[in-house]
Amino acid sequence: MQHKLISSSSSRVLSAAELEEIDHELTLYPTKQAVGLEALKIVQRHQGWVSDESMHAIANYLELPLAELEGVATFFNLIYRRPVGKRVILFCDSVSCWIMGCEKNKARLAERLGIAYGETSADGEFTLIPVPCLGDCDKAPVMMVGDTMHRQVNTASIDALAEGFGNKGSTVDKVGGDD
Ligand code: FES
Repeated sequence: MQHKLISSSSSRVLSAAELEEIDHELTLYPTKQAVGLEALKIVQRHQGWVSDESMHAIANYLELPLAELEGVATFFNLIYRRPVGKRVILFCDSVSCWIMGCEKNKARLAERLGIAYGETSADGEFTLIPVPCLGDCDKAPVMMVGDTMHRQVNTASIDALAEGFGNKGSTVDKVGGDD
């Protein structure tokens, strides 16, 4: 996921719950540096995404260079540096899933939810993010909705999911990409 360089120099205050979890991770790793990714995941779990202010706060707390932490977030593309929908859909379009027809599924998702890659629905419910492989190639095509893996996805199962979602959404925001 692309992101502009950090422009804000302000830092937010990490919550007690975030600090408690980060402190726990510090007991498990040999160096503060090694906790960077876990701290990003913790903050994302609490805040939904990692703002520049959160990035500053983590860097300060772990006494890490900001650029180094930003590098970790950029490398691990499931750290969201912009707000995402309540439910993130990770859509695999790598070889096995492509062979098994994921393009058709993508088109159906776009039709039912009104979002394309990198976009968040107007109601803030969904964000659709392409991923290279979800590690379930023998059950292709697959996608993840939140923490739930959906295997051997087809048009009918996408329709069923969309019905469960309430068939919401039209595009208003993009995660990463053009700017
Ligand atoms: S190629 Fe889709 S899960 Fe591996």
